[in-house]
Amino acid sequence: METTFIFVKPDGVQRGLVGEILNRFERKGLQVVGAKMLRVDEDLAGKHYAEHEGKPFYPGLIKFITSSPIMAFAIRGVDAVTVSRTLIGATNGRKADPGTIRGDFGLSGGFNMIHGSDSIESANRELALWFPEGTLEYDKSSNLWT
Ligand code: PPS
Repeated sequence: METTFIFVKPDGVQRGLVGEILNRFERKGLQVVGAKMLRVDEDLAGKHYAEHEGKPFYPGLIKFITSSPIMAFAIRGVDAVTVSRTLIGATNGRKADPGTIRGDFGLSGGFNMIHGSDSIESANRELALWFPEGTLEYDKSSNLWT
C-alpha cells in the first residue's frame, strides 16, 4: 500500500472538474485518505515546486498555482503513485493519451488540471508539506480484492 499526493489545480477547480477527476480515482479503487480546499501562497508553492526553480516556466507556474483555490487529496492504494500518474496522463494535454484526465479534458501544456507525485519519495515529501496534520487511514474492505 502507498499513499500519494494529488491536487486539482486552479483551472480544474474553476472548470468544475473536481468531481469528475476524483471519480476517476475512486472508481479505479483508490481510497481518499485526506482532502482539503485551499488558496496556495507563494511560500507553499515555492516549497512544492522547489526542484523547478530557475526553469523558464517556473514564474508562470507559481503565478498560476497561487491564482485561485485548489483542492488537495491524499490517495491510498496498491501502487498508488504509479497508478495515479497513469490516470493523470502526460504533462501536455495535446500529447496525453485519450482516457487519461489530461488527455480527455485539455489542450494546454501548463494549465493541465492536476498534479500527482512522481515517486514514492516525492509523495512522502509532498504529503508532509500539504498534510502536516497527517492523513486518515481506515480499513476498506475492497482492499482485500486487489
Ligand atoms: S521538467 O523540466 O521536465 O521536470 O518539467 P515537467 O515535468 O514537464 O513539468 C514540471 C511541472 O511544471 C509544470 N509546467 C508548467 N506549468 C505552467 N506552464 C508551463 N509552461 C509549464 N511547463 C511545465 C508541469 O505541469 C509540472 O507540474 P506538475 O504539477 O508536477 O504537473
